[in-house]
Amino acid sequence: MAGHGDLLDAAALRCNSMGLSVQLSAVEIDPPTAELARRRLRLCAEVGGHAAETIETNAFKPGLWTGERSPGSFDLVITNPPYVRYQEHSSTRGARESRFEAGDIRAALRELVRMLPDRNEAQAWSALIEGYSGLADLSVPCWMLCSLLVRPGGILALVVPQTWMNREYAKIIQYVQLRFFEPLVVVEEHGVGWFEDALVPTTLVVSRRLSTHESIVPLSSRPETTCTTTIAAIRAAAADSRSLVGRDFAGPDPDAAFAQWLLAPSPESTDHITVRRVPWAEQWQAVSARCRHDHWFRAAGEYALQPGLANSSLAPLPAPLQTALGRETAPALTTFEALGFQIGQGLRTGCNQFFYMEAAGPDSAGGQHVRASDTLGGRTLCVPDELLKPVVRRQSDVPGFAVQAGAVLGRVLDLRGWCLPEHCGAAAALRPIPAALADLVRRASQTTIGPPERRVLIPELSAVKTNSRAGSGNERLFPGVGTPRHWYTLPDFAPRHHPSLFVARVNSGTPWFILNAQPPMLIDANFSTIYGSSRVMSSIALLALLNSTWCRACTEFIGTPMGGGALKLEATQLRHLPLPVLPPEAMSPLQMLGEQLATSTTSRSEELTLAIDRIVLGALIPASETVEASLSRLRSLIADRCAQRSRAPREAVLFDHAD
Ligand SMILES: C[S@@+](CC[C@H](N)C(=O)[O-])C[C@H]1O[C@@H](n2cnc3c(N)ncnc32)[C@H](O)[C@@H]1O
Repeated sequence: MAGHGDLLDAAALRCNSMGLSVQLSAVEIDPPTAELARRRLRLCAEVGGHAAETIETNAFKPGLWTGERSPGSFDLVITNPPYVRYQEHSSTRGARESRFEAGDIRAALRELVRMLPDRNEAQAWSALIEGYSGLADLSVPCWMLCSLLVRPGGILALVVPQTWMNREYAKIIQYVQLRFFEPLVVVEEHGVGWFEDALVPTTLVVSRRLSTHESIVPLSSRPETTCTTTIAAIRAAAADSRSLVGRDFAGPDPDAAFAQWLLAPSPESTDHITVRRVPWAEQWQAVSARCRHDHWFRAAGEYALQPGLANSSLAPLPAPLQTALGRETAPALTTFEALGFQIGQGLRTGCNQFFYMEAAGPDSAGGQHVRASDTLGGRTLCVPDELLKPVVRRQSDVPGFAVQAGAVLGRVLDLRGWCLPEHCGAAAALRPIPAALADLVRRASQTTIGPPERRVLIPELSAVKTNSRAGSGNERLFPGVGTPRHWYTLPDFAPRHHPSLFVARVNSGTPWFILNAQPPMLIDANFSTIYGSSRVMSSIALLALLNSTWCRACTEFIGTPMGGGALKLEATQLRHLPLPVLPPEAMSPLQMLGEQLATSTTSRSEELTLAIDRIVLGALIPASETVEASLSRLRSLIADRCAQRSRAPREAVLFDHAD
């Protein structure tokens, strides 16, 4: 996956300066790109006295990794893996050889495992290869492929977007990293600026492959180790015209000086590079908390329950959060699940253009005027009340901290129990849809949507056609049970679709949590939702807690930074939000503050937030610490994380270029 050889060229140059001559191998699937890499590597070879080969093929091609290129034989494997889906590859690449499917890739990895020099590792590898999610893009099997190629003691060096490691499907790679490697260093870009076209910060992950003797031992059976991984965050201001770290390493070869400093036993932070060291045990606890319910985890020989982790899905508290609290050890923490709440995602209709409408104008007796989407002509029609359910679709539907029922204009078309007159047939259990709405449904059945080359009729959309269900024939005896459904009938709503609280999945700043109306309205899939109830905490007290500075700072660590500086907060991540264990006497004041928050329709009151913070931090900081000091550290942490995920001002670098 060598592209046009940027990384190999840089590696060859570094070898030149170290007086090493090496064998370089590039594999690239795209013919013109491979040709560029070939020319470039030939030049590298001539200049540095290296041997070079460029193989234009699919890296998952059977038979490629044999002989000198066998699994477990490379000193260094370096790449930035592709993130495409298999399907895209198979449709866009012309060459027959480059067409491949998800199944071929798994088969290729199996083949590599069979060829490993030591079969003892094979069992764990097989569990992982069979276990990685079919939803993962090519980067996950690529990471496995690269890992399998490195020799024991050799180095794997990968360039990935920072967001990648937090993805649900990539957690298996975090396991691979610990099981088969010693993670040496992680270099993080602070802000976005290294790559012109990147949307999220970049991360470099460098690890050393363990010997088979070490890696065959499951992580849960390994003895305690004092190993740490160094994580260095580099700010844009560290760069000069020569190097991304040229200002902090002023000598003739800043990159070499940086690498040497980074690999030293205890590097100290420099002016623009912040270093933290994460103990191995902390990394393993985090991986175990994320993966312990996965089938592959046990198949790889792990036993799930770690002392102290038995009832918790909490990963260890990130060090900066602990420091902000002024603590040496983590405070008592709990989870939504332990409190009795559950986390999910809001309603996904499969085709918003059909199922969503917008209230338009005054209601008439028994009906509401609603506007259909532009895709369906944007016309306004009157629909019986019972066929419409209010839905919160966007953040802008809620100006404050609580949904105001009257202000929500979104409506879901809920046709359960109804059908087009022509579909009623013998199934008298269904009522005929009124004429104007029936026309709209028929129009939708003839409407195609999607990108120009892949337009699909609405009833044929993958998440719409599954709505259809034949009747059981017993509808008369058991009304509602086994009633036939059509493509225009949404399935029954689940508790997660009308939760007590919710939070946007994509947040431009740090997330704010919102209280649903009573009775709860439907909430769209744009939001992660919190539902169920707790014996210890009301939803309103939870509203106050979740909008505390503590919880907002925590979301910065569990969420995924996205392109454009937004923070993504998925249900799977929210489950790991470290909530404080509050004393019973905190509940009633928190409830009161939650009520005030729910009625404050627009502005975010500093005073109210401070009152909440006093209660929440009171349960988290040690006696020697003040709420004000801890609060100020948490606020700067939030500001720092927000800055880290946004694009760095280019002037900082441009100024240096002008020097
Ligand atoms: C992110 S780019 C790597 C860029 C590279 N580091 C460079 O210096 O140009 C990923 C590359 O992997 C290639 N690629 C994707 N799937 C591949 C496969 N199955 N086998 C080989 N190459 C592949 C793409 O064509 C693309 O050039």
